[in-house]
Amino acid sequence: MNSIKLLTILGARPQFIKAAAVSRAIVAHNDAQAAERVDEVLVHTGQHYDYEMSEVFFRELGLPDPSYHLEVGSGSHGYQTGQILERLETPMTERKPDLVLVYGDTNTTLAGALAAAKLHVPVAHVEAGLRSFNRRMPEEINRVLTDHLCTLLFCPSERSVQNLAREGIRAGVRMVGDVMYDVCLWHLSRSKSLNGLLKDLELQPGKYALATVHRAENTDTKERLQSIFAALESLAGRGLKVVIPLHPRTRKMLQVFHIPVEKVKVIQPLGYESMLCLGSNAQVILTDSGGLQKEAYWLGVPCVTLREETEWVETVEAGWNLIVGSDSDRIIESAMGFRPVTPRASLYGDGDAARHILSCIAQWQAQAANGEKIPGSD
Ligand code: UD1
Repeated sequence: MNSIKLLTILGARPQFIKAAAVSRAIVAHNDAQAAERVDEVLVHTGQHYDYEMSEVFFRELGLPDPSYHLEVGSGSHGYQTGQILERLETPMTERKPDLVLVYGDTNTTLAGALAAAKLHVPVAHVEAGLRSFNRRMPEEINRVLTDHLCTLLFCPSERSVQNLAREGIRAGVRMVGDVMYDVCLWHLSRSKSLNGLLKDLELQPGKYALATVHRAENTDTKERLQSIFAALESLAGRGLKVVIPLHPRTRKMLQVFHIPVEKVKVIQPLGYESMLCLGSNAQVILTDSGGLQKEAYWLGVPCVTLREETEWVETVEAGWNLIVGSDSDRIIESAMGFRPVTPRASLYGDGDAARHILSCIAQWQAQAANGEKIPGSD
């Protein structure tokens, strides 16, 4: 690979985890072949800004410090997306990257891809091709539009490759596996040594439910949020301890809707390894997160998904993920009774997705240097 300048745009919790895999692979690459360096500059949009939602991941996962901090903070979708779009012009024009990297499906992702495309900078999307087929989710809009702006599309599964083909996107598409699997494998053994965490929280291995709730579709509708927390409270009342590292959005909306939480153990959002530790020791995981559905599968813990659909359909087909929505009775019944027995096939790649991504970038760069037609430019 000739030297290449990458500009990585991130801003929300799951992006710090995903980008950590690629940043680590870049460091390894540079250590091995210093003559053909990959120079990565990080831009933090500031979409997430609390210590527990941002900085802890930089420290724990060894992400380099961002060179730019856009400090956009909270706001409506229009405000957040618009501000990021505008404020990204400075780092883009100052750094003149060869390629911009965006991750996942947040407002940061869409604004990053759009800012780059408008300045004629090629964009690569890590976690391309995921679809819930629910256009009411802001994440779905972000993913679809981002994919249509990209030159390189790094897919975590064959299904995501097919989703892109259905929308006419074939050029530049590479099935590389899931970078979150890379990170999970790296940190699992370290997370196993965090035994004190369970003790501090008065939890016993295999005898509690780990819950997370943060999707706007759940938090911003009173009936859904009430119904989910009624189920969690009921489970806790039946002797299954329930622990929930509470997302700030959910904390806010519980107050707005006056929904009481008494029996469920509410804690601050956790760092990555603590979360892996709680996940791997749980009897069941109840979640509306995308990343946690996959982590539950990799950890061999049954997952009950508090949504009406999922992008990670493979985990459902494998028999380890039940989609139950927000209905209290279904949540309670599934949390108590769902015990998958089917063997877990390998899903989402070989745990080396970040290195595959770098290889694809090198190949793309070589093609461009040779004057070959650049994938995605048609
Ligand atoms: C965003 C992403 C979602 C991702 C999730 C991970 C979009 C549209 N959604 O949702 O895809 O799964 O991040 O967490 O981009 N807040 C704080 N402190 C923080 C961060 C947020 O207090 O550090 C509060 C703010 O009041 C804000 C609310 O949480 O209004 C929601 O934050 P926001 O960035 O809008 O989206 P998330 O719900 O976190």
